[in-house]
Amino acid sequence: MSDLIQLNRLESGVVELVIDRPEALNALNVGVLLGLKAKLEQLASDASVRVIILRGSGEKAFVAGADIREMQTMGRSDAAQFSRLGHSVCLLLESMPKVTIAAVQGFALGGGTELALACDFILAAEKAQFGLPEVGLGVIPGFGGTIRLARAVGMARAKELVFGGDRIGAAEAVQLGLIRKVLPQDGFFDEVRKQAARIARNSLSAVSAAKSLMNEFEETSGVHPKVDAEIQRFSSLFGTPDQKEGMVAFSEKRTARFEGL
Ligand code: CAA
Repeated sequence: MSDLIQLNRLESGVVELVIDRPEALNALNVGVLLGLKAKLEQLASDASVRVIILRGSGEKAFVAGADIREMQTMGRSDAAQFSRLGHSVCLLLESMPKVTIAAVQGFALGGGTELALACDFILAAEKAQFGLPEVGLGVIPGFGGTIRLARAVGMARAKELVFGGDRIGAAEAVQLGLIRKVLPQDGFFDEVRKQAARIARNSLSAVSAAKSLMNEFEETSGVHPKVDAEIQRFSSLFGTPDQKEGMVAFSEKRTARFEGL
């Protein structure tokens, strides 16, 4: 499990967590999520760490979502456990007393967009692609995506993206306010490291006080109170004909034919 997540310690209190499953576009299976959770728990209490950069391995993807092949055979109770695990990783990223930055190059879909949204902010390269395509698989986002996307871009825009399962590029993500600006593809990770090091030079106690206060402002509209409801709705779709069809169609590399059941 641990070799699915690489930890690179950079200078000046910055660490890079790399999801290392490029052959599956860094899709989040149980092993990846457990590895991320363990590493984040370790880093949360490491006084030498100030800023965590979360990224994927390879050039093609940050994370192409939760692992569809693994989810294909899940029943409701496995799906609920899986969703709870994904939530625990996202809640750690969101609440830990360190700055968390998602460095997105390539695909950040489904659980990939959800992980990125749980970080304090997202830095994205020109070829970044975001989206929550879960309804095309017969399920819904299961790691807090609907709530955090609506918080980031507004409810109407989030509904349009979730119901359509649309993929958006980096330029549109700027227009929507998901990211502040697009960074050049060449030298992307060097620029991310520079920005992380700049933050790491500031007082960590001041930055983490600001983070917890800013998180408190959002408490009522935040994810915490809605976690159980989302886990219930996500898992209730497992075992339905549409969920089976959606995920089998992905594995068979064909378009799903939904019956609405
Ligand atoms: N799960 C499992 N495997 C995945 C995957 C995923 N989410 N995404 C990609 N892969 C695998 C592919 O199956 C393929 O494996 P094989 O070589 O063994 O066939 C490999 O990664 C490379 O992918 P593609 O050949 O499909 O690459 P592409 O360039 O043609 O397409 C893509 C890239 C558009 C990202 C496409 O892979 C894709 O649509 N992936 C799925 C995206 C998605 O639907 N994500 C949401 C998942 S559901 C979710 O995340 C639920 C949740 O909220 C908890």
